[in-house]
Amino acid sequence: MRREYDFLVIGSGIAGLSYALKVADAGTVALVSKSTLDETNTAYAQGGISSVMYEPDNFEKHFQDTMVAGDQICNPETVKKVVTEAPRQIKQLLEWGTQFDKSEDGKFDLHREGGHSEYRILHHKDNTGEEIQRALIQQVRTHKNIHVFESHFAVDIITQHHLGHITERWMTDIECYGAYVFNPKTNSVETFLAKSTLMASGGIGNIYQTTTNPVIATGDGIAMVYRAKGIIENMEFVQFHPTSLYNPGERPSFLITEAMRGYGAILRRRDGKKFMHKYDERECLAPRDIVARAIDNEMKNTGDDFVYLDVTHKDPEETKKHFPNIYKKCLGLGIDITKEYIPVVPAAHYVCGGIKVDTNAHSSIKHLYACGECSSTGLHGANRLASNSLIEAIVYADAAATDAIKHKEEIEINHAIPEWNDEGTSLPEEMVLITQTSKEVEQIMSNYVGIVRSNLRLKRALDRLELIYRETESLFDKSTVSQRLCELRNKINVGYLVIKMAQKRKESRGLHYNIDYPEKVD
Ligand code: FAD
Ligand code: SIN
Repeated sequence: MRREYDFLVIGSGIAGLSYALKVADAGTVALVSKSTLDETNTAYAQGGISSVMYEPDNFEKHFQDTMVAGDQICNPETVKKVVTEAPRQIKQLLEWGTQFDKSEDGKFDLHREGGHSEYRILHHKDNTGEEIQRALIQQVRTHKNIHVFESHFAVDIITQHHLGHITERWMTDIECYGAYVFNPKTNSVETFLAKSTLMASGGIGNIYQTTTNPVIATGDGIAMVYRAKGIIENMEFVQFHPTSLYNPGERPSFLITEAMRGYGAILRRRDGKKFMHKYDERECLAPRDIVARAIDNEMKNTGDDFVYLDVTHKDPEETKKHFPNIYKKCLGLGIDITKEYIPVVPAAHYVCGGIKVDTNAHSSIKHLYACGECSSTGLHGANRLASNSLIEAIVYADAAATDAIKHKEEIEINHAIPEWNDEGTSLPEEMVLITQTSKEVEQIMSNYVGIVRSNLRLKRALDRLELIYRETESLFDKSTVSQRLCELRNKINVGYLVIKMAQKRKESRGLHYNIDYPEKVD
């Protein structure tokens, strides 16, 4: 089956949906999502979306906070772009029907999170992402130019490679013609051709055992672009959220928003003692990399499986009002957060690196844009400032849409693209092997490529992963396409990129901490 559109979008989070809405008046759009439209990292976002709104806040403060959190290796041009365009994109979200909480004076009720010097986080209670996702889906569903393909899995982007032209890593003129997409209903791979393609496939959390990310976050887009020889960067900077609810066996791990520390919650060891003052003068409101490493260190020193987050000193009614979902979730597990401490552990949360893009969200591959978590714009540097992700995604989706519309008429759809070739392949015999190998990848990444790394651990991880890589590639070559096998392959590719880039960085900076190179190299 062949389909043709002006614009192909892979992913239905804030990045994919907002881009689709912006290009839809200029042409036909195919929006492909491997699950239902609402199963995305976006829908799980709690804390909110950052934007300068009122004095005494200003762009310079948001710029500086982002640079400091990013350990000074953010791209200043990108930071300036996101910070200054944020208010316009917030307005756009409001126009699309998103509701953010307001105070009694009619102004937006702004939260504050770690690393922010001012109150600038717009939120909808403690489920901001769900609200944004709801509003965007409502708009997308009613736009006549947007054709939605739920439960469709993008396997690979289409480039010259599929025309039989071998692409070398150094090639600078690789072009994207669309994507091969697996339709599980027909058990076949369909050819989606487009003038331009947007990769908006989200994060990689599921390469780790403990993650706040839903199951869709398997790094597919990054792996696809890597296999197509596009440029990927900064993958060593994997952010672990300091406070996910300690509830062994629950996947994804339930997040306890950082806004709770902004609200005054205190981290304590199991013996009740505070510890953040030993690590940073900003204590519980230090940037995430510092807080996550501090918790990891305390847990290692005490041998405990978790630390506590204490909000019992705050007004119970206020706590329930600001964090109704967290209150309800914890109560369901027998913890009344207004009276009892919340057990928390760090969990893989966000990847700062990804598909390298320019300020138009254009990747190193022609006609291929990327935005949202799968992209690397340079905003986050070595560590993302809390609530800077949703805003980055929508600012860059806007940039991508403007550029894609501008160039639409210059691009011809490539009709020479062959159908997916699955000759000589058959169904994988033992699905259990795929599940097992997937768990092995998660173990390797969690044991050796977590919050604290060393040369030996990274080497061990690479050695183990290489064996799994060879086994899986051989299985892939002789198997018909299945989503689980593709996801496993993508997790291995992405794990490899994290390890290789971690090995290359001979310093400790932001989220990347290697005990063999504890210093920062300036
Ligand atoms: P996503 O929203 O993850 O969407 C990815 C889409 O791609 C999905 O539709 C998925 O199905 C699709 N997809 C993936 N692979 C394929 C494939 N092979 N084929 C077809 N479709 C595919 N950030 C903030 O700024 N503020 C917050 O408060 C905040 N809280 C968070 C809380 C949690 C629990 C989590 C997990 C993240 C949070 N983040 C927050 C981060 C933020 O939510 C994400 O970085 C952001 O939503 C990513 O948006 P996205 O559009 O890039 O990707
Ligand atoms: C949170 O609510 O703590 C998550 C915010 C973020 O990841 O930006």
